[in-house]
Amino acid sequence: MSFSTDLLQWYDENARVLPWRGEKDPYRVWLSEIMLQQTQTQTVKGYYARFLERFPDVFALAAAPEEEVLKLWEGLGYYTRARNLHAAAKAVAGELGGLFPNTAEGLRALPGIGPYASNAIASIAYGEPVPALDGNQARVLSRTLAWEPELRTPFDLLSPALELISKARPGDYNQALMDLGASICTPKAPRCEGCPVSAHCRACAEDCVEDFPHKPAPVAKKEQDWTILLIQLDDRLLARRRPRGLLGGLYEFVAVEGHHDEEALTRLLRAQGFSGVQVVNRLPDAKHVFTHLVWRMQGWQLICDAAPEGLIAVNAAQLAVLPFPSALRAYREIAGEILY
Ligand code: ADE
Repeated sequence: MSFSTDLLQWYDENARVLPWRGEKDPYRVWLSEIMLQQTQTQTVKGYYARFLERFPDVFALAAAPEEEVLKLWEGLGYYTRARNLHAAAKAVAGELGGLFPNTAEGLRALPGIGPYASNAIASIAYGEPVPALDGNQARVLSRTLAWEPELRTPFDLLSPALELISKARPGDYNQALMDLGASICTPKAPRCEGCPVSAHCRACAEDCVEDFPHKPAPVAKKEQDWTILLIQLDDRLLARRRPRGLLGGLYEFVAVEGHHDEEALTRLLRAQGFSGVQVVNRLPDAKHVFTHLVWRMQGWQLICDAAPEGLIAVNAAQLAVLPFPSALRAYREIAGEILY
């Protein structure tokens, strides 16, 4: 039997039960694949259900204010995905009259749909035999083939992947590889004894499964120091909307780059137009790791009696509904306690 036949037979008996499985509606397939791209399956389940309840079709999503889309996305991270999702929904609901492009190539013309997502969606929704090459699929295939070259991107494996994919059931085949990568062909301690395709696996035959994939040396993440300031004005806390760029459109507290002592902070804030600044408390440190960047955060609680333009003073109810990035979760929780 072939690789894909053995894989699909295993999938038919062992597929994970997930809310988007068996779904062929391109809107739903698209939504699930965008959410799943950088987020764990377990986390996505709840978001997927809440999104579909609020936006049952592409027209509902296109008509929503961006802020509401970002709010529902809050906690999933990588907010560019949410902004692109909204932009793509507007394009489909508008110029395309509600119809998603029905090929991988056509899908790639929409914002936020790259080679992985286009292939996942086209294979699942339309049966196009294109491989959904993400890190999981690349790990499985690089082991199966004992692929020697360094993998810079999963798409380095495109040509063997196109040969291996099931032409009859490409969507199930792609999802079977996702399940195999999640449960058996895991990065560490793969369970080759229980693997349905071990008979086809060169790395398994050579007992060197964990040597694959061959990855290029990782680049060091850039580190940035920030001081996050929970500044009270009367019985509210000061916040602002981030400009375009990293986490653009989300809300944040007043923040200054670098780490500073009490005296330097009050001086910096006075120079920015705050008056009557007093430090109340040093807050716990926090750290957030992005893909290419680490934020090392120190926090302070302060009060002031006047603030410069461009800030909004939020109460507990507003704090609960405004979209904040996960990176600020620790300070947002403290802010909730301060305002409670
Ligand atoms: N990860 C990305 N797409 C997925 C899918 N369709 N099922 C399970 N995990 C996934």
